[in-house]
Amino acid sequence: MTFTALEEVVLEDIRPRKEELDRMYSLADQLIADIHASGRAEGMMVGSVARKTCVHGDRDLDVFMLFDRNLPREDLEREGLALAWIIAKKYTENIREKYAEHPYLNARIDDLDIDLVPCYKIEEAGGIQSAVDRTPFHNKYISARIGDYTDDVLLLKQFVKAGGIYGSDQMTEGFAGYLCELLILHYGGFHSLIEAAARWKPGMFIDIRQHAAKWFNEPLVVIDPVDPCRNVSASVSETKLLEFIELCLGYQKSPSKWFFYRPPICILTKEQVSALLKGRESAFLAITIKTPPYIEDIVVPQLRKSLYALSDLLKRHEFVIARTDTWMLEDRSMMLFELLVNTLPAIRYHTGPPVTTHVNATKFIEKYIHSDTIFAGPYIRDGRYGVELPRRYRHAIDLLSSPEVLATSLGKHVKHSMKDNFIVHSGIECWQHGFEPFISEFLQKSSPLVRIRRAEARALQDSARNYLETEGAISHT
Ligand code: CTP
Ligand code: MG
Repeated sequence: MTFTALEEVVLEDIRPRKEELDRMYSLADQLIADIHASGRAEGMMVGSVARKTCVHGDRDLDVFMLFDRNLPREDLEREGLALAWIIAKKYTENIREKYAEHPYLNARIDDLDIDLVPCYKIEEAGGIQSAVDRTPFHNKYISARIGDYTDDVLLLKQFVKAGGIYGSDQMTEGFAGYLCELLILHYGGFHSLIEAAARWKPGMFIDIRQHAAKWFNEPLVVIDPVDPCRNVSASVSETKLLEFIELCLGYQKSPSKWFFYRPPICILTKEQVSALLKGRESAFLAITIKTPPYIEDIVVPQLRKSLYALSDLLKRHEFVIARTDTWMLEDRSMMLFELLVNTLPAIRYHTGPPVTTHVNATKFIEKYIHSDTIFAGPYIRDGRYGVELPRRYRHAIDLLSSPEVLATSLGKHVKHSMKDNFIVHSGIECWQHGFEPFISEFLQKSSPLVRIRRAEARALQDSARNYLETEGAISHT
């Protein structure tokens, strides 16, 4: 492959160093020997380290423990975890159990982050029983083909990382490492992928082996070469797909280093946030809760569901939403709402029955005719009776602090946490410790390409200023 001078410089920086790989391989060898010595399973190094498609500085080693496929699933989980604990304990105290489709162990050994994952040893890809069983097949498929394209994969990974769209986790909803590898193989390199993807539209369908056995309707569909029933890019949301397309278009038009190095976001100060909120003249409200004790991939979708349910509650009470977002920290999580206004008028229009449904119409009139709390009505509007009533919640903060909140369809664990306690913040109070980057991003929201073009413009201004200063210094001497 031929790369541009810019890409060569980036590659020099991101290629994994020999010492770095050697160290990971020797640890993997030890772990695999330990697994073998147990007599219960076989060890296998998988993932990007095994394929040398890991970016310099990544410290993520994936070691799979392959058990006999006749072992019942509960035994695989129990035995697999027990063996993983015994092995990991030889090296470190820093061990955590994690849950994907199966439980597995995550151990920190020196500065390396090791996943020890039990799975079934399966001879044919057709016999895959769960998601983790696919991984050894991915490894075989990619390792056999990626050799010439390693640099292309590294560039692509760095490109999507810098664009903020790397990772198939629920928070990112972006591109997994394996997906990057498949895209490079399919298009035959980084440049051809960029060129092709610049013309993609949501609904893009790629089936390298022409063997799809299922219909998918996600915005991007890339059929797994080792499993005709799986879409490798199921995690990619429409927005992240469009951000990728936008980045490819932008890179084609005029590339720069910022496509590979994420322009730093400016973390605002409390004073700046306060001034911005004043300037926007909208209403900011936030709910903070204790983060439920589950992994991000379980909690984040629940936070999104809850955000949706609470937005719906606000809308039903006639508050107009400008934008919402949510963020999860280790200990606390936040749901943030920007509304057009904080306070609605005292009056609310309440729709009644059609005038011609006589029984209901009569009942409606009877209910309100002598009421001394209504403002006006009943009167006829758009074929129905209606009445102007006092509003129950005039202030959005009152609604978000009311018991109505717990009656909405919140995510299960989020609801549990909120039943325990939740705090509603308003205005600058939303600027809670730990959420500074989240709120800074919210207030400066822009797509990845816009962010890159701004960084380029800033860099140009800076170099012009430096040049003028140097010139000035020269002319003074
Ligand atoms: N995997 C997958 N789909 C995902 C995530 C992971 O199929 N959404 C499988 C792939 O076979 C992948 C392996 O699990 O290679 C290990 O996952 P991970 O460590 O997340 O990805 P890597 O490919 O190792 O990429 P990197 O660690 O460099 O991010
Ligand atoms: Mg990995």
